[in-house]
Amino acid sequence: MSFKIIGTGMYVPSNVVTNDDLAKIVETNDEWITKRVGIKERRISETEFASDMGYEAAKAALDNCGCKAEDIDLILAATVSGETVSPSMACMIQNKLGATCPALEINAACSAFIFLLETAAAYFALRNYKKILVVGCERISGILDWSDRGTCVIFGDGAGAAVLEKGCGYLDAVYNVKGGDDVIKIPHSLGCSPFFKREQDSPYIHMQGQETFQYAVTALCEDVNTLLERNGLTMEDIAYVIPHQANKRIVDFARKRLRMPEEKMVVNIEKYGNTSSASIPIALDELARNGKLNRGDKIILCAFGGGLADAACLIEW
Ligand code: UT7
Repeated sequence: MSFKIIGTGMYVPSNVVTNDDLAKIVETNDEWITKRVGIKERRISETEFASDMGYEAAKAALDNCGCKAEDIDLILAATVSGETVSPSMACMIQNKLGATCPALEINAACSAFIFLLETAAAYFALRNYKKILVVGCERISGILDWSDRGTCVIFGDGAGAAVLEKGCGYLDAVYNVKGGDDVIKIPHSLGCSPFFKREQDSPYIHMQGQETFQYAVTALCEDVNTLLERNGLTMEDIAYVIPHQANKRIVDFARKRLRMPEEKMVVNIEKYGNTSSASIPIALDELARNGKLNRGDKIILCAFGGGLADAACLIEW
C-alpha cells in the first residue's frame, strides 16, 4: 500500500544571514556566492535546536491538513545535525507534539527525505497505519566549520514536514548508495577513551566540493531519467521536479541536460541555502502553499549528498 501527501509544513529561523554578513566572518563576497552557488541569504538559528524546528514544521503540516497529533500512527524524522543522538529527533518531536505513536530517525544526509518516504511506504504496506508524519530538520549551522569558506557559505538551518495518508500517490522510487567517507564526511564529536589510539577528525562537515558537484549532476539526471523511462513518461508529463537545493549551478546543469523548461524546476536556494534533509520538504511546502500544485499532478523529488547517497521518487499529487 502506498500513500498520498495530504499536508505539508515548514519552519525556518527568523535570523536572516546575508552573503555580506558572511563576508565579515570569512574571506568571501556576495558576487562569488551568488555566481557559484546561487544563494543570497540563509536562515541561521539563534535559539532553535533541530528538534524545535522539526516540531514547528510538523505542527504546520498537521494544521495544513486538519490533523491532530493523536491521528498520527508513526513519526519518521531525518537529520544530520540533531542536538541529541538519543533521544532521536523523531522521539523529541513526538514528545513536543504530545503524540504517543512510535517514532524513529533515519540518517541519509541530504537524500534523507526520500528515504523517509520510502520507509513510510514500507510501513504502510507492513502495518495497518493510516497516517505517517515525516520530518527533515537541520541545525546545520552547528556542524559547520565557520572558518571554512568552502562550506560555511552554502548551508542554512530549517525544517520541512509532510503528513502522509494511506492511498495511491507514491508511484515509484530509485535509490543508489556509493558508501565511503572520502567525498563528504561529518564526524561525530566523540570523547576519547584512554585506550583509543586513532586520530579523530573535527566534528564538522568535510566536503570535496567539486567531486560532490559532479556526482550530484550525474545522479540527478540519471535518477530522473530512470523514473521517466521506467514509468513510460516524458518530461511533458511532469508538472515539477523538486531537487535537493545544494547549488543553483548543479540544478541548472541538470535541467539543461534533462532538457527541462526552467519553470518546471523548483528552486528556492537563494532564500535558504542548503538545508540538507529539510530542503525538499521546504520547497514542496512552498510550492503547495503557493497553489502551484493540482491534484493529479505528477512531480519528481530528487536528492543527493553524504553517503554518498542519491534518491528520487515519482509522486502523484
Ligand atoms: O548537500 C550536500 C551535497 N553538497 C553539494 O552538492 C555541494 C557541491 N559542491 C558545490 O556546490 C561547489 O563545489 C562549492 C560551492 C562547494 C564550491 O564551488 P566551486 O565552484 O566548486 O569552487 P572551488 O572549490 O573549485 O573553488 C574555486 C575557487 C578557489 O579559489 P582558487 O583556488 O581558484 O584561487 C576557492 O578557494 O573559489 C574559491 N572559493 C571561494 N571564494 C570566495 C571557495 N569558496 C569560496 C567562497 N568565497 N566562499
